[in-house]
Amino acid sequence: MSNFYKFCYYKKGNTVKKIDVNLKERAYSIIIMEGLLDDLSAKIESFVSKRKVLIVSDSNVSKLYSKKVISAIQEISADVDIAIFPAGEPSKTLKTVESLYEKAIEFGLDRSSVIVALGGGVVGDIAGFLAATYMRGIDFIQIPTSLLAMVDSSVGGKTGVDLPAGKNLIGAFWQPKVVLIDPNTLKTLPEREIKCGLAEVIKYGIIMDEDFFRYLENHTQELNQLDCECFSSVIARCCILKAEVVIADEREETGTRAILNYGHTFAHAIEVIRGFENINHGEAVAIGMCMAASLSVADMRLDDAAELRQENLLRALHLPCSIDNIKASEIYTAMHKDKKAVNGKLRFILPETIGEVALVSEEINKNMIMQAIRNCSD
Ligand code: NAD
Ligand code: GLY
Repeated sequence: MSNFYKFCYYKKGNTVKKIDVNLKERAYSIIIMEGLLDDLSAKIESFVSKRKVLIVSDSNVSKLYSKKVISAIQEISADVDIAIFPAGEPSKTLKTVESLYEKAIEFGLDRSSVIVALGGGVVGDIAGFLAATYMRGIDFIQIPTSLLAMVDSSVGGKTGVDLPAGKNLIGAFWQPKVVLIDPNTLKTLPEREIKCGLAEVIKYGIIMDEDFFRYLENHTQELNQLDCECFSSVIARCCILKAEVVIADEREETGTRAILNYGHTFAHAIEVIRGFENINHGEAVAIGMCMAASLSVADMRLDDAAELRQENLLRALHLPCSIDNIKASEIYTAMHKDKKAVNGKLRFILPETIGEVALVSEEINKNMIMQAIRNCSD
């Protein structure tokens, strides 16, 4: 890893950070700049000029940012329209995508047109899937506006929708042409959604980068105060780490990309049992990471001190480390229905130290898993 990458999160000032996702013919850049939306025409011109553009957004984000994005694209005289669907995970369905296909046809999008995803992870996943499948695939651009989308979902090309049977069961790998991130949009993001993104941020520290984890430990105050400069640096660092994983294993074939699922098998089970409205994904991931760390201690991989460091950082950023009124056996059963289970067998991402994880495919004793769940239940 080059020094620029290693230390870019210490850089001061409102600089433009550019990260290249080097996927050969599918290569693209991630541009991070405070105030980027005020200079969007310049940043987006080469991707949309002389092409029809359909912006896809949700009912919350469109109210806040669509005017700016529409006029920036109009400035470079591209033909632009917008499609808006109700905010929230329940919209992540084939029905929504079908209504977007109809809108795209009505607007006359052809194979040379471009889709712009303006919003959080739900918008990015839906718009990306629309782009992947409309006329067998057209270009799309990610403008993520939630922290989770900035640090995770907008990078790497996973797109898709949910089925009643489970989350993200339908989808395609389809890389964007560029990812444009304006950290200033976080100023309007509800606090609970910021926390949701922070759980994923901490995840990167645990799975890949102890220096970054230490940086987070030393900047909890700035993060809790939503210091924009600190967030820009953190977003850049996460994008670098995510890009590294995606370049190594674009389609999650070798197991490398699976490390991004640290804590997620427990988390998805918690979300299913609790109902997606009662606990948000970030909260479930925080608790899931605690369960995974506890399991790793029991499996003699991780020491107690490292487990405690993770817990302390989660608590310092006001994320939960345990869950009440839930049965360990229910979580255990629900975990087997997760799409990450292979032939009905669970695979775990277990930390071995801060900054390093192992993908554990061999059977882990049921009692040990149940005990790890109980250790994180009130
Ligand atoms: P989301 O898109 O529902 O956004 C959360 C809420 O914040 C929504 O109400 C949204 O309208 C609002 N919002 C977004 N940006 C805002 C802003 N700047 N100001 C005010 N409100 C704003 O959820 P999310 O947490 O961004 O993403 C979760 C989704 O991402 C899930 O569907 C998950 O499966 C998916 N995901 C995908 C990947 C991937 O690799 N494709 C990775 C992780 C998660
Ligand atoms: N968020 C998991 C992945 O992109 O692979």
